[in-house]
Amino acid sequence: MQYRRPTESDTTITELMIPSYANFGGKIHGGIILSIMDKVAYACATKHAGNYCVTVSVDTVDFLQPIEVGDLVSLMARVNYVGRTSLVIGIKVTAENVKQKIVKHTNTSYFTMVAKDDDDKPAPVPGLKLTSEVDIRRFAEYILRKELKDYHTKSMNEMRTSFKVNQDLSDLDKYNCIIKLQ
Ligand SMILES: CC(C)(COP(=O)(O)OP(=O)(O)OC[C@H]1O[C@@H](n2cnc3c(N)ncnc32)[C@H](O)[C@@H]1OP(=O)(O)O)[C@@H](O)C(=O)NCCC(=O)NCCS
Repeated sequence: MQYRRPTESDTTITELMIPSYANFGGKIHGGIILSIMDKVAYACATKHAGNYCVTVSVDTVDFLQPIEVGDLVSLMARVNYVGRTSLVIGIKVTAENVKQKIVKHTNTSYFTMVAKDDDDKPAPVPGLKLTSEVDIRRFAEYILRKELKDYHTKSMNEMRTSFKVNQDLSDLDKYNCIIKLQ
């Protein structure tokens, strides 16, 4: 069994935010950032796996602060966890105002990638050699996130199968909706 340190596949992409990346409000489109996140996740996962990798799932993308035209955006990716054929890549995104030298943290997200062999089948990936406290914490954090996600999926499925519109409407009173069942 082969093991690799997370640092061996660390990958950073830095890109200047040009005017054509802006939305109608003059800030950078979230989709532009997502696209670069996917690229850095691909590069990091493929370096670790030694095989072509595909994106399977993205966990929580919250844009905490807007990114401006002219900002220098850096996306830093590291393998946080590996399963048999899957890899979880943590990505930290920062945006630097190069004139004022102010750096803001805009989001951290987790991309699950799967390595593929030449026949397009999931391929085993090397294990992780964890040698720092931070990498051990990130590995353990993923296990907790996975447990919480499984619980969430199970709860949603139970809700969908047990929901009865005539019994469960009173809970919606406090929300921004009006119900007129037809
Ligand atoms: C990802 C994919 C290979 C899984 O295929 P599969 O036949 O279900 O294969 P497996 O059941 O063996 O799963 C392979 C791995 O993917 C993981 N996986 C599958 N679905 C997942 C999901 N929704 N979230 C997280 N991990 C997932 C499994 O846990 C497994 O990981 P492990 O080997 O580390 O335990 C397949 O669904 C696929 O090719 N999807 C399209 C991916 C793609 O094209 N992405 C680009 C976006 S356009």
